[in-house]
Amino acid sequence: AKAQIGVTGLAVMGRNLARNLARHGYTVALHNRTAARTEELVAQFGDEGDFVPTTGAADFVAALERPRRLVVMVKAGEPTDAVIDEFAPLLDDGDMIIDGGNAHFADTRRREAALRERGVHFVGVGISGGEEGALNGPSIMPGGSAEAYAALGPILEDISAHVGGEPCAAHIGPDGAGHFVKMVHNGIEYADMQLIGEAYDLLRGAAGLDPAQVADVFRRWNTGRLQSYLIEITGEVLAHTDPATGAPFVDVVADAAEQKGTGRWTVVTALDLGVPVSGIAEAVFARSLSGNTGLRGAARGLDGPRPAPLGGAAAAAFTEQVEQALYASKIVSYAQGWNMIAAGSEQYAWGIDPGAVAAIWRGGCIIRAAFLDRIRAAYAKDPGLATLLADAEFAREIGAAQQAWREVVATAARLGIAAPGFSAALAYYDALRAERLPAALTQAQRDYFGAHTYRRTDRPGVFHTAWGQDRAEHRTD
Ligand code: 6PG
Repeated sequence: AKAQIGVTGLAVMGRNLARNLARHGYTVALHNRTAARTEELVAQFGDEGDFVPTTGAADFVAALERPRRLVVMVKAGEPTDAVIDEFAPLLDDGDMIIDGGNAHFADTRRREAALRERGVHFVGVGISGGEEGALNGPSIMPGGSAEAYAALGPILEDISAHVGGEPCAAHIGPDGAGHFVKMVHNGIEYADMQLIGEAYDLLRGAAGLDPAQVADVFRRWNTGRLQSYLIEITGEVLAHTDPATGAPFVDVVADAAEQKGTGRWTVVTALDLGVPVSGIAEAVFARSLSGNTGLRGAARGLDGPRPAPLGGAAAAAFTEQVEQALYASKIVSYAQGWNMIAAGSEQYAWGIDPGAVAAIWRGGCIIRAAFLDRIRAAYAKDPGLATLLADAEFAREIGAAQQAWREVVATAARLGIAAPGFSAALAYYDALRAERLPAALTQAQRDYFGAHTYRRTDRPGVFHTAWGQDRAEHRTD
């Protein structure tokens, strides 16, 4: 019997995805550049299901039933192009190349267009959940044609995580839509991690808690509205003691955060689309700053307050305020992320359903959380919602949290503890709800130095003031 699906690229993500497919009863053809990996998989996990190991590209393609479903799990970028170039000539009309890597959506658009010319479907699939998720049920974000999804979607839905019986996989939209949404997922992941980091830092620096006590706080928070995978693992990490030194594990890890690039892509793309995603941007910048030892070394002696931890009842009260600040900032960062999804969908005519994205992120992925059900509900109530902040429920919650949020941002500033995520989120909230913005002054300045014109609040038209002469106003449109 032929294989229903094949996986090429059997590093840990590919291997786990292949095993997940086999465990669900699919016959899975296997291929890897070096055959040893394929043999190893079969030797170790062959009893989990039906695998068809192959060595050459032609064998691999011949092992697949038609239309062929060929999953590529190699590094994003050139390695993906190399694999596509190898396999595309061996495929027939209606076959599918499925890219499950963290590809840039622009690459996916390019590849999809090129393969469409040859009659081959290219399906760019965002997969989240790490190694564990790939094996036991990830969140899956497939892009590509509806025709390809009809032939592939049921398999993806089958192997995805499930929440309340619903699969965490759904067709996102044409060409690059799936990888775009996965990119925004990662951006939100960065923002969540940054906000959690700031909360931790404030609980230590301002409230004076030690890592084990902060771990307890996160465990408690994980039973409330902040419940999420990232809050859960934060509690685990903070409670961990380094076996070598007996010190809190977090204290022996070098404080230079790395990144593979998806967060940066999100911000660059957001700049191109003109969507403010300040929460994600601050998170990317914070990682860059942390790793810049030269800059940090040069600035180390700079003056600042010497924080005296609050202690006692004040520390307990502050801890509750931090929960509010974290929750409010999180709402802002998700609101920004969803605005970005809407902007991408509009720009590329993807027709993305914002509620469906929330639904498939409830399980399997790194940002999985009960919270996402609320976002789904908000879009179910109003599919045209301009910002999550305008949803009545979220508006009420953020309204109730805003005073504590301000206290936390003010305390951070007073004590000299950097909280760029909390601060930027609050600034966004205040700017968005402002009656008037200083953008009016910006426009006037632009008109002064560059005759860039402005509009007026009281009548239509485009105007310029002759600043250098008589300051008379002229209508220019
Ligand atoms: C996921 C993760 C996954 C990943 C990132 C981490 O959804 O499963 O987002 O894609 O862990 O590669 O990215 P950084 O290395 O940039 O932090």
